Amino acid sequence: MNKLTIALAGATALVPAGAMAAELNLICSADVVVCEKIVSAFQAGHQDAAVNMVRLSSGEAYAKVRAESRNPQTDLWWAGTGDPHLQAASDRLTEEYKSPMLNQLYPWAVRQAEVSGYRTVGVYSGALGWGYNKDIFAQKGITPPACWKDLLDPALKGEIEIADPNSSGTAYTTLATLVQLMGEDEAFAYLKALNGNIAQYTKSGSAPVKAAARGETGLGIVFQHDAVAQAVAGFPIVVGSPCEGTGYEIGSMSIVAGGPNPDEAKIFYDWVLTPEAQELMPEAGSFQIPSNKNAKVPKEAPDLGSIKLIDYDFATYGSSEKRKALLARWDAEIGGHATE
Ligand code: G6P
Repeated sequence: MNKLTIALAGATALVPAGAMAAELNLICSADVVVCEKIVSAFQAGHQDAAVNMVRLSSGEAYAKVRAESRNPQTDLWWAGTGDPHLQAASDRLTEEYKSPMLNQLYPWAVRQAEVSGYRTVGVYSGALGWGYNKDIFAQKGITPPACWKDLLDPALKGEIEIADPNSSGTAYTTLATLVQLMGEDEAFAYLKALNGNIAQYTKSGSAPVKAAARGETGLGIVFQHDAVAQAVAGFPIVVGSPCEGTGYEIGSMSIVAGGPNPDEAKIFYDWVLTPEAQELMPEAGSFQIPSNKNAKVPKEAPDLGSIKLIDYDFATYGSSEKRKALLARWDAEIGGHATE
């Protein structure tokens, strides 16, 4: 044996076949605290699997999966709003999978799977709205808004934050909701007027209400459960639900087509749809409605039955053409003028 063969034989002896840890490359688009909680619970039960997790907002996650499509590095994309998951499905960037857990899910979660040809599935839902800081409103004598139109009140100049719909699924849900409520031209006219009251467009969807909680801004347009989370944490946040009606998300999950670890992806996928996994979310301060019928709905979760919800058209607003077109128009008419 020459020296090289001996070295290789030695190396093989140190790593017996089958002892290599399995890996799972995960994009998580929920709040980072939830992402960490879910990953550590999964690891506790699956010690042979090393999970490499990155937290990205929903639109950023879609962009990463798309950018890697010739050489996918990601296995699974968990959580975040459904529209970019549906866009990834319509672009065939994600893999068809029918989990054995499907029959435990609510019809709205299964419908998300059906609409996408089983390339995505619903993991939770939650309604859009806002959270405002009641102390700031009281100090400045601002009347709390009841409706989308009230957000145009000049007293709110510089007091509102919302995310950028390119990076954030929350902000894209807002854009698509306004278009469905008002019609596209009127929605853009509304967003142009609202721009005058916006302090900044953030990257992540829940950042605006975190800023309001800390008194950095007056109001954040966010999912209502994200506003509830700040109130539960003890901040002076009041949750608002628009009088005209509002949209909602079906937070989703997709397996990336051609990802390096498809078996581990399916193990995580089936596990994260169990009631036990879904019930971990409120422990991390995340109060969505879980998609598994057997999972307890957190008592803090806004009751979707008492919120005026629009009949959100997920198939249309999650299609590649519509999402691309709306984002391009937002960039041209709103984002490009954000600092004017
Ligand atoms: C928060 C919410 C989730 C939502 C997510 C979207 O984490 O709790 O329900 O799916 O935001 O994040 P994004 O940054 O894409 O708006």
